[in-house]
Amino acid sequence: MANTAKLNLDGKDMDLPVKVGSEGEVGIDISKLRSQTGAITLDPSLANTGACESAITYIDGEQGILRYRGYDIADLAEHASFPEVCFLLIYGRLPKRHEREEFRERLTLHSLVHEDMKKFFEGFPPSAHPMVILSAMIASLSAFYPESDTPEEIDLNIIRLLAKAKTLAAFSYKKSIGQPFIYPDNDRTYLENFLLMMFAVPCEPYHVNPVVRSALNKLLILHADHEQNCSTTTVRTVGSGGANLFASISAGVSALWGPLHGGANQAVIEMLEMIRNDGANYKKYVDMTKSKDSDFKLMGFGHRVYKNFDPRARILKQSADEVLGQLGVSDPLLEIAKQLEEVALADSYFIERNLYPNVDFYSGVIYRAMGIPTNTFTVMFALGRLPGWIAHWLEQHNTPGTRITRPRQIYTGMNARPWEPLDER
Ligand code: CMC
Repeated sequence: MANTAKLNLDGKDMDLPVKVGSEGEVGIDISKLRSQTGAITLDPSLANTGACESAITYIDGEQGILRYRGYDIADLAEHASFPEVCFLLIYGRLPKRHEREEFRERLTLHSLVHEDMKKFFEGFPPSAHPMVILSAMIASLSAFYPESDTPEEIDLNIIRLLAKAKTLAAFSYKKSIGQPFIYPDNDRTYLENFLLMMFAVPCEPYHVNPVVRSALNKLLILHADHEQNCSTTTVRTVGSGGANLFASISAGVSALWGPLHGGANQAVIEMLEMIRNDGANYKKYVDMTKSKDSDFKLMGFGHRVYKNFDPRARILKQSADEVLGQLGVSDPLLEIAKQLEEVALADSYFIERNLYPNVDFYSGVIYRAMGIPTNTFTVMFALGRLPGWIAHWLEQHNTPGTRITRPRQIYTGMNARPWEPLDER
C-alpha cells in the first residue's frame, strides 16, 4: 500500500498521507486538507469517514467478523462473564484471577444509589419510557460524584457508573410497574443482583433461574461494544468538549433510544406482533419495504457495516431456540421471526442490498422469554453497551492531542441580503 494518496484540486496536486490499521484497513488522512486547499470533504452520515483511531473493537462487515480487543465475539459469548468483558474493553486485557475478583467486589460495593436519587423517580409519570428515566438518572450521577481529574478518581467513577447503572435500570422498570424498589444484595454477583432488583418483590424469596442468568450474560456481552456506532460517536462527541463521563454517557443512552439504533429491538417485537395480528402474511410486509410509496422497513434487518450476516444475530438465533426450549416457553413470535427471515433472505431486493438480520432481530424474543417487558429492551441494550461507551470515552480522554469534534458543512442557504423592516416583508 502506498504511503500517500494524490488529490488534484483545481489543477493543484496534494499528497495525502495514508494510514493503515492493524487489520489492514486503509484511511486517507485529510486532516490538513482545509488548511492547505480551503476545501472540505462532504460525507453526510459519515459512512466513509474515520473519526478516530481506536484499539478497542474490530469489525469486518464483509466477512461478518467482530472482535473486542482481538477476541472473537463467539469465544467471548461462549466463555466469558459480562464483568470480565467490561474489564477487557475498559482496561484492554482479560483480568487475572485476583483482578477479576477485585473488580467484581468493587462493582458490588458501589451498586447502591444515593437515597436522594430515589426521589427523582417519583417525579416521572408512570407512563414514562424507561430509557428517558435511565438517561436522566445517569446524567444526575454527576451531581453526586462531581467531575474528577486524576486517573484514580476517573476509575472510581467508571466503577460507580458500571455498578449503579444496573440499579438505576432496574429501578426505572420497578417505577414503570408500580412495584417497590429492591436493593442490591452484596452476596450476589453482578447479573444475579440485576435480576433480583428487576424481578424480586419484598414479600417472597427470589431465586435466580440459571438459564435466565446465562442468557442475560450472553446478551450483554454481544451488545458490549460495536466501535463507532451512533451512540458511541455521540459519547465521543460530547466527551470531546470536555464533558464528564456521566454526562457523555447519558447522551449515548439518548442516542441509542432511536428505532434505527438500539430502539430497534423494541420495534422488532412490535413489528412481529403487527404481522401476527395481520395473518402472518410475510410476503406482504417484505413487499411493503420495496414500495416507493411506503417508508416501511423490516426492523432488525440491515446494517451500515455488516454486508454479511451480523455474527451477533447468528449467535442469538441459536440462543433463542435454546433459551426458549430450556425455559419451556413457546412464543409464536419466534416462529414468525424465522419465517419472515426466510422470506426476506430469498427476496432479490434483500439479496442485492446485502440485508441480513442484525443483533436486534432475535434479541427481543429472548428478552420476552426472560420476562423483560418490551419497553425495557433498549434499557437492556444500554446496560450491555455501557462498557463500550466507557472504553471509548476513556480512550479518547487519554489520547494526547484530542480536539473538540466540530465538523464543517457546505452552506446552501441564502446569500447576504439586506434587513427588511417589518412593514416591508
Ligand atoms: N428493510 C428494508 N430495506 C432496507 C432496510 C430494512 N431494514 N435496511 C436498509 N434497507 C435498504 C434501504 O432502503 C436502501 O435501499 P436503496 O438502496 O434502494 O435506497 C438500502 O437497503 C441500503 O440501506 P441504507 O438505508 O443506505 O442503510 P444505512 O446504512 O443507512 O442504514 C440501518 C442502516 C441499520 C439504519 C438500516 O438498515 C435500517 O433502518 N434497519 C432497520 C432498523 C434496525 O434494525 N436498526 C438496528 C441496527 S443494528 C443495532 C445497532 O447497531 O444499532
